[in-house]
Amino acid sequence: MKTRIVSGMRPTGKLHLGHYHGVLRNWLKLQSQEECFFFVADWHALTTEYADPRVIRESTRDVLADWLAVGLDPKKATIFVQSHVKEHAELHLLLSMITPLGWLERVPSFKEMQQELSTKDLSTYGFLGYPLLQAADVALYDGNKVPVGVDQVPHIELAREIVRRFNHLYKGDILVEAQPLLTESPKLLGLDRRKMSKSYNNSIYLSDSPEEVLKKVQSAITDPARIKRSDPGNPDICIIYDYHKLHNTPEAVCQVAQECRAATLGCTDDKKKMAALINDFLDPIRKTRQELLKDPGYLDEVARQGREKAQVIAQQTLIRVQKAMNLI
Ligand code: TRP
Repeated sequence: MKTRIVSGMRPTGKLHLGHYHGVLRNWLKLQSQEECFFFVADWHALTTEYADPRVIRESTRDVLADWLAVGLDPKKATIFVQSHVKEHAELHLLLSMITPLGWLERVPSFKEMQQELSTKDLSTYGFLGYPLLQAADVALYDGNKVPVGVDQVPHIELAREIVRRFNHLYKGDILVEAQPLLTESPKLLGLDRRKMSKSYNNSIYLSDSPEEVLKKVQSAITDPARIKRSDPGNPDICIIYDYHKLHNTPEAVCQVAQECRAATLGCTDDKKKMAALINDFLDPIRKTRQELLKDPGYLDEVARQGREKAQVIAQQTLIRVQKAMNLI
């Protein structure tokens, strides 16, 4: 039997190379091996973007286009939008009845994000419930494995505790306990060596034009100690070198390191090389993405079919849950 995989992504902008190497590459592998449910977590985005939610709907289209452009395939995985499947909200509500407040207040991301996003008022009920909604997302599909980054592990742990409490209270194996599926994918840093993130303005987007890619790569931080072209460089602290490891062959990576150390390859030439490699990688993605966005009906149809498939499973789970809770 195949493992049931469930994962979501918040639509708060277009996707960048960090999303690709950190998340999507893994999803692509999983969709051919396991039974996958991938959704755009627009309600989760609303917990932080509620004051100006326009970005969510726009980004939902962008994210769907990005997903399909990199090769996520609606024939292999169930691809949908969270808010289209209202059962997520119903299970969230039912689980909220049995979730102690302290469990939610204890989740590290709760206080961390409140501090980090201090311009937004995140002392809301919805934001406190973020990890509970996530627990409902996974339990709704009897998810066994949740591919996430380490930062999300406390959320999955909480989800397991809630499922255990539910099964204990209502005496049965009603909901499934999911486990995090940690990927070894390298963290791709942004052009300034900080985490690649929209808010740092240091990202290369899957939808960037070839010119934008070149300009951004040219602005990247290399070895700060390498001032003159004739200075030997240290590739280990160079962001462009990190990108070589993801976009170049192992032999070429070795050669670049050698030439950088020997000062036979300058940063300017290396950056041109890197921009060309990234553009080769992005060309087919950009092309597919543009074609997809030309036909808005197509993305809607993909989301509609995904919703239909997801809802069949979601409704079965909710019947089980309601029976267990004596609601029906
Ligand atoms: N919280 C996740 C993130 O920020 C997104 C998400 C929402 C999710 N629901 C999920 C991930 C369910 C895995 C499973 O990345």
